[in-house]
Amino acid sequence: MTKILVLTSGGDSPGMNAVIRAVVRTSWNHGIEVYGCHGGYQGLVDQNIFAISTVQVAGCIQHGGTILRTSRCKAFFDQEVRRKSINFLQEKGITGLVIIGGDGSFRAASMLSHEGGIKVIGIPGTVDNDIIGTEYTIGFDTARNTALRAIDSIRDTGASTSTYFLIEVMGQRSGFLALDVGIAGGAEYILTPEFPLTIDELVTQIKEPHRKRNSLIIIVAEAGLPGCSLDIAKQLKQMTPFEYRVCVLGHIQRGGSPTVMDREIGSRMGYLAVKSLLEGKSEVMTAIQNGNLVLTKFPGADAGYRKLEDKNIFEMSRILSL
Ligand code: F6P
Repeated sequence: MTKILVLTSGGDSPGMNAVIRAVVRTSWNHGIEVYGCHGGYQGLVDQNIFAISTVQVAGCIQHGGTILRTSRCKAFFDQEVRRKSINFLQEKGITGLVIIGGDGSFRAASMLSHEGGIKVIGIPGTVDNDIIGTEYTIGFDTARNTALRAIDSIRDTGASTSTYFLIEVMGQRSGFLALDVGIAGGAEYILTPEFPLTIDELVTQIKEPHRKRNSLIIIVAEAGLPGCSLDIAKQLKQMTPFEYRVCVLGHIQRGGSPTVMDREIGSRMGYLAVKSLLEGKSEVMTAIQNGNLVLTKFPGADAGYRKLEDKNIFEMSRILSL
């Protein structure tokens, strides 16, 4: 292997630049040429790739987003489109790919491997932390710290003005972000898809005399319905004698300077990905399992998404908010 391609795909997440930097510098250290793909798989479709030197990744580790840019590219699931991309990679002599993204991106990478013999290594990147096979995905820690700062700020104003707030955080299918920021932000209620509370249950609890508060914070995981907290607030307003304000944190959580954790784990995963390509490995992703950095197979097409499972932590968060 003398040439590899690095590509970011799907939603961006803080720490992707640390991965890219590690991939580029580890490759150069082994005499491998590295190419970047512009804008995710769309860059492969458009044959928009460029050589990256170690100098070009200087000064990117502290920035959120991805210097390669990213996209969600449905076109790549068309076999004819992939065939052209494979021909293009073969003409260029590129035989290895490091792909930073989520499970859909890994599925596309597997197809490249099966149809074109290209060796592919995945690195899990999403603020949602919901990829099967790893306890950690790049960007999660930055997102939860960004959300926590916002929650702390809202708590200041809420406490000063006796206001009840719903704060909506990302998490398309899982409540990892909601649970962590809910615990760390001292939220009174945390609504996640895994441990839902009905409106009636929520209303009953809010009305309980011993749970009465001057100000209140309800963390809501968006759970595939961005803006759902507005609807919940409307229902709460009708069913309780209180006013509610809503703050949807949205894409703020996806940007910003990555934390130590995202830079450090991102660097280690990027380094391991290149080493693994050199050892001839393919169709595996870097992962954190039991706190250790390992390689594991790609989640299968029907694996679904990682979910909150630990009822005890959820129960603890409930008790601590009483
Ligand atoms: O990156 C994951 C995620 O941030 C989800 O939590 C969110 O619902 C979704 O992506 C939004 O992505 P976009 O607005 O880019 O489609």
